[in-house]
Amino acid sequence: MTTPHPPSTSDAAHALHRQAAALDRDDPLADYVSAFVTTPEVVSYLDGNSLGRPTAAFAERASRFVTEEWGGRLIRGWDESWMAEPYRLGDRIGQLTLGAAAGQVVVGDSTTVLLYKTLRAAVAARPGRTEIVLDDDNFPTDRFIAEGIAEELGMRLRWIPADPASGVTPEQVAEVVSDETAAVLLSHVAYRSGYVLDVPAVVEAVRGAGALLVLDLCHSAGVVPTHLDDWGVDLAVGCTYKYLNGGPGSPAFCYVAHRHQATLRQPIQGWMGAADVFAMEPSYRPASGIGGFVSGTPTILGMLAIGSMLELIESAGMEAIAEKSRRLTDIAERAAEIHVLPRGAQLASPTAGPRRGSHLTLTHPSFEEVTARLWARGVIPDFRAPDGIRLGLSPLSTSFAEVEIGVRALGEELAAVQGNAAEGRR
Ligand SMILES: Cc1ncc(COP(=O)(O)O)c(C=O)c1O
Repeated sequence: MTTPHPPSTSDAAHALHRQAAALDRDDPLADYVSAFVTTPEVVSYLDGNSLGRPTAAFAERASRFVTEEWGGRLIRGWDESWMAEPYRLGDRIGQLTLGAAAGQVVVGDSTTVLLYKTLRAAVAARPGRTEIVLDDDNFPTDRFIAEGIAEELGMRLRWIPADPASGVTPEQVAEVVSDETAAVLLSHVAYRSGYVLDVPAVVEAVRGAGALLVLDLCHSAGVVPTHLDDWGVDLAVGCTYKYLNGGPGSPAFCYVAHRHQATLRQPIQGWMGAADVFAMEPSYRPASGIGGFVSGTPTILGMLAIGSMLELIESAGMEAIAEKSRRLTDIAERAAEIHVLPRGAQLASPTAGPRRGSHLTLTHPSFEEVTARLWARGVIPDFRAPDGIRLGLSPLSTSFAEVEIGVRALGEELAAVQGNAAEGRR
């Protein structure tokens, strides 16, 4: 039987519209939306999992930095505060979002570079072992870095075949790890599907094999709470430009558990990671603690916006943020069921529950064209080849109405593209 109305005019669509309005009315975090920079041209921003919006407070913070801190203190700023900033900010990220006690997180470099440093350090800590375990659906940079290290050291990559619509299971990890495994590299939240890895179970499998786990937290930091200390994670890295709203190219962070800091050695031995930075010694002696994972001069400007976002995260609370993330993904899924899936698209993400992160992926062969049309009308999801649209929902800056408007527009543009194709065939 065919549907009596186009999906966008159905009773269900109207009910969803009312539900989104009611959710916004009752949302305890609703006021935070106005703490971010918005423009009337963008009616629905659904790409917080690629680049978070700027906080409104950041404009004033940046101006104060230029006039008072950089302009006013000049080179004295390094001694007075900037040298300590990667550690101070790292501790705050650790405490507020990662479940990491102080002294284990530092900010600097890019995720890619930190993946190299942490994975290379993990592998070096397991001499004689010949394998790195990873999954074939991890983000390209993770796979490429592991490939490079394997080539560099003559190691083998053991690939876990991951279901792109869900993710890696602890059973799959347990099956492939062995006394040949030096390190396991996985993402906490899969970049494509949003699948949330069962980290405690994976830690058990990795530890049982005597290997070390490196976790990529890019799609969880600031939105899906982690408990790195309690879970017993060895090493982790993540970016700050997604849900920590650090801005384009803001530096990454890495976590190295206290118990490994005295023994792990990372390969990029720069002066900022030396035991005595200004001693200008003839050869490298690593700093103790997390400082040994630092390499070069920290990007102080790049770190500035993260602090403003952490203030918002602190006042809202990670659990409340995670709860809103669940509700936003629920409404996005419902909107997709009404507006998008009836047009032949598929949901390529886990269904509601503990295995779902803060983004949803929908797939359809026409989505590249649909994305271009959406961007032109101020609805901004992202497209991931070959056929996926990701709806990344950043809880503090996204309203329920925004999600409903965006997914409805997605259905409309898919219908328009399908209509044009049908017209062309006549
Ligand atoms: C899972 C994951 N890892 C790493 C990166 C990127 O690394 P980098 O910040 O070095 O570009 C991304 C970027 O989106 C990502 O999604």
